[in-house]
Amino acid sequence: MPQDIFHITSAGSVDDGKSTILARLLLDTGSVFEDQMGGIDPSTVDATTIADLLDGLESEREQGITIDVAHRFFDSATRRYHIADSPGHEQYTRNMATAASHADALLLVVDARSGVKPQTIRHLRIATLLGLKHVIVAVNKMDLVRHSQKTFLRHRGDIEALLTQHELHSHQVIPVSGLTGVNIVKRGRQMTWWEGPTILEALDSLQVHRPEPGDTVCVVQDVRRISGGGRRYLASAIRGEITQGMQLNVAGGARMASITMLASSGEQKQAVVSPQEITFELDQDLDVERGNVLFAGSPVDVTDYLEVNLVWLHPQAGVLGRRVELRLGHASTRATVTRAWALDDTHQNKVGEIKSLQENSISRVTIEATDKVAFSAFADIPELGRITLVDMATGDTLAAGVVLHGLRRSDNIVPHDFTLQSSDFSALTGVRGQVVWFTGLSGSGKSTIANAVSTELHRKKVPHAILDGDTLRKGLTKDLGFSEADRVENIRRTAEVAKLMADSGLIVLVSLISPYRSDRDNAKNIVGDGRFLEVFVDTPLDECERRDPKGLYKKARAGELPQFTGIDAPYEAPESPRLHLDGQRTLHESMQQVISQLLIADE
Ligand code: ADX
Repeated sequence: MPQDIFHITSAGSVDDGKSTILARLLLDTGSVFEDQMGGIDPSTVDATTIADLLDGLESEREQGITIDVAHRFFDSATRRYHIADSPGHEQYTRNMATAASHADALLLVVDARSGVKPQTIRHLRIATLLGLKHVIVAVNKMDLVRHSQKTFLRHRGDIEALLTQHELHSHQVIPVSGLTGVNIVKRGRQMTWWEGPTILEALDSLQVHRPEPGDTVCVVQDVRRISGGGRRYLASAIRGEITQGMQLNVAGGARMASITMLASSGEQKQAVVSPQEITFELDQDLDVERGNVLFAGSPVDVTDYLEVNLVWLHPQAGVLGRRVELRLGHASTRATVTRAWALDDTHQNKVGEIKSLQENSISRVTIEATDKVAFSAFADIPELGRITLVDMATGDTLAAGVVLHGLRRSDNIVPHDFTLQSSDFSALTGVRGQVVWFTGLSGSGKSTIANAVSTELHRKKVPHAILDGDTLRKGLTKDLGFSEADRVENIRRTAEVAKLMADSGLIVLVSLISPYRSDRDNAKNIVGDGRFLEVFVDTPLDECERRDPKGLYKKARAGELPQFTGIDAPYEAPESPRLHLDGQRTLHESMQQVISQLLIADE
């Protein structure tokens, strides 16, 4: 039976002395290895040794990736601790949040000279948002305030006022000195007035959260075919007991099956208690894949629409409507944040709708997913109630959050089953529906080329339509401006209309700057990859500016037109467009290049 490990995450502003406390915990519990001690006898340790040890730990961290989380282990008399230590700099809050979402308790360090800082407040908010219920606050560097009880009590008042804003199961505020080690593992004569616990005693008194027995929940990790037919399922059992012969249901499905073979740690078992990785076989094949959830007892629900408390972690602000990857349990699907609200300090109440999500901000959001995922409210089953949002192109973690509940959206909308399909419309018009998506700077020639293509198609009697940015912005998209969020919506809406037109058997010529790569990818997803032709009208900025057909570059340079693409708003050129048009070629050549890409019958 593996020893239970209690997981802690540390947080605090840079320079508050987080590492010193950590070094003390390692040192004074005898958890530092001989080589790290450089042959020094731990019983004769003084302030200089601590500093040396710290240097050792720091340089160890620097050799790795500085921004990474350092993992340390130490043992008390009763159990083993794992501490995820992330740097205190503001830009590393992302690591802190990742570590917090897997921890049992937060060790928050505050400097006795300065007390609570904005970073302290932010770390506490993020940790509690992600479900941490136990907080130990170390008021550090007490030696630098002459171990003053008065100073400590003043800080404790502030800290407790802050802690009461959060729903915690327990909290402790403890005066310590990382340098001398007082009240971390050992007491010291410097603070005889302190009658509360040391950090280690406070940690030892915390109860490890054990899920209630009863309902059984497993998250599928992998399904393998086995020789002789049948399948073997690999899963994380996260709730309850799993037994040989038990009947399991699929979340969101109607089927069920019974366990015919159960194993964990490479051995066959009659019963396994969560949490545990398990392997099993069933008496009949279930159509499940990675991320699906199996349960016995209270049903686990599925949804494609979630309400979430979200902390945005990326330096680049989050924009509503943009396509991202949603990860929940072992499941992953495409999703978009559709609406967002700022929250008050309790995270309970919305205080106004917002359009973008700033780094380290906490907000309430709705998320719409492409596929349904099994989920739970975080309060019920934390493992199925934690999400992360990931950038699909870079793999960066963008945000982390906890699910409040699922929303019912699509359940009430059942598309009508129309008799005619897109192929029937194509048969009528004689063309296969396609979308030609012209992207490029303002003045690059998109509309001019689209116009020439349209004239040629008309001459060839090919049914088609034009969706041009400037025209749409007078009607369909007239409520939108040029902020990033508005452009995302502009492109999404236009792509949806283009799709409907293509479904009706038309060639659709779309002409939008569409400056963001991810939005064009989204448009391609909406329309369907096989009938989406991205055409990059590549005219250099200085040439567009020289042409300046609408006088807009002049205005933008004069500061009269903010967020103008190419001037003070970005343009992300396509990396591999279907067609890369040199905007300085003749119009006729460009037109013919586009026509040659279209799936139309020759004259
Ligand atoms: S997009 O970025 O959302 O794709 P869209 O193609 O619809 O833009 O509209 C671009 C047109 O709006 C430009 O051709 C230009 O005439 C006009 N326009 C007005 N303000 C701006 C701006 N700030 N940035 C770009 N285009 C602008």
